[in-house]
Amino acid sequence: MKVSVIGAGYVGLISGACLAELGHDIILVDVDKEKIATINTGKNLPIYEEGLEELLSRVHIKTSSDYAEAASADVFLICVGTTADESGAIFSRHLVTATGQIAAAVKDRQDYYVVAVKSTVSPGTTEEVVIPILEKAGKKAGVDFGVCMTPEFLTEGRGIYNFMNPNRIIIGEYDKRSGDVLERLHRGLDAPVLRTGLSTAEMIKLASNAFLATKISYINEIGNICKRLGIDTYDVARGMGLDDRIGQKFLNAGIGFGGSCLPKDLKILISSAQKADYQPDLLQSVTDLNEAQALKPVELLEKHISLKGATVGILGLSFKPGTDDIRDSRAIRIVRVLLDEGAAVKAYDPLALGKFLELFPEVKAATAEEVVDSDAVLILTEWAEFDKLDYRGRIVIDGRRIEKAREARIYEGVCW
Ligand SMILES: NC(=O)c1ccc[n+]([C@@H]2O[C@H](COP(=O)([O-])OP(=O)(O)OC[C@H]3O[C@@H](n4cnc5c(N)ncnc54)[C@H](O)[C@@H]3O)[C@@H](O)[C@H]2O)c1
Repeated sequence: MKVSVIGAGYVGLISGACLAELGHDIILVDVDKEKIATINTGKNLPIYEEGLEELLSRVHIKTSSDYAEAASADVFLICVGTTADESGAIFSRHLVTATGQIAAAVKDRQDYYVVAVKSTVSPGTTEEVVIPILEKAGKKAGVDFGVCMTPEFLTEGRGIYNFMNPNRIIIGEYDKRSGDVLERLHRGLDAPVLRTGLSTAEMIKLASNAFLATKISYINEIGNICKRLGIDTYDVARGMGLDDRIGQKFLNAGIGFGGSCLPKDLKILISSAQKADYQPDLLQSVTDLNEAQALKPVELLEKHISLKGATVGILGLSFKPGTDDIRDSRAIRIVRVLLDEGAAVKAYDPLALGKFLELFPEVKAATAEEVVDSDAVLILTEWAEFDKLDYRGRIVIDGRRIEKAREARIYEGVCW
């Protein structure tokens, strides 16, 4: 099938490359010309994702910043970024613009095509925002074109594996004809397919991420209690996880979740609930606990040193290992507080250092060893290489349970 993937970020680039691997004819469209030029070089891609460079060198995908070149697709897959503002209202400016650009590109077409939203959006967005824009030029959904909402569940760092080996494929469809096209697009992937309405698909994505976020905040709350009672949270989590109704995943207590998805998706869900006149107290607590958890390392650090004039070393800047993505990473909040309190900060991350320094030019880039050689060290991302450093004689506050760090002179885990 001919597929125009709209937006060449984490989701669009990975989806485009994987759909090409499945045999589809892909054109990747992004308004960011610099990003398109970088992708075309095949080297130093705008994002780091394991196996992506190799996959892109093997499959052939076209790229463009011009929607006219992408106009003849069977499927338009919208993968542009969506964000939520502080109130949780979804900020879908890019989605509105991209949909308008698709509508303009296809206005003279007489044949059938499907527009599918892959970006995470609040329930009702595809029906109430996307379809009206596509119909503006006189075309009719379900007659001239089809519409789907097919949420993405990949996790950064394992994006290609996740895309090629999904747990499930969710296809929210405007009508059967649209859904049939999307089901054909995913042919070759071995996973159960669930076909639903458009809003249900939108909600499945938000509810899934809210559940994972809840699991994290839950174990962090248990961890905060365990720390006070002198119980090892990780032993508790292991014992809990052996129950197959609970499972081991997402039970690593620590400094909470960041990234571009979980915090935002919770905000969107809370805001959608409030608009429907329901106060989602559980979800609000998950968010509040996560916010408070981020600052636990600083609270613990202040028990041992005075921040003013101290040099604090940060190990780990990305929101999780395996990615260079720092969006909403815990390190951002923590470093801001440290600097505000008068500390000097040096930092190391195997992938995210460059992006972080753009945000905080006052932070000193260092090797992992140089970072350990500070007045105190905070471990904020669980990169495996941090388990090989020599922490002896140091003060370490560990947000991610790095076993080797326990050899430090003073060691504190946030939840253990
Ligand atoms: N990153 C993830 O792990 C992940 C996982 C699942 C779902 N999602 C969701 O997928 C969506 C995309 O996320 P992302 O992380 O890939 O975002 P991103 O910010 O990395 O990429 C979005 C891209 O869209 C481009 N863009 C913006 N407006 C455009 C337009 N009008 N036409 C063409 N391109 C345009 C931007 O230049 C950017 O390259 C979001 O809704 C996100 O919540 C992300």
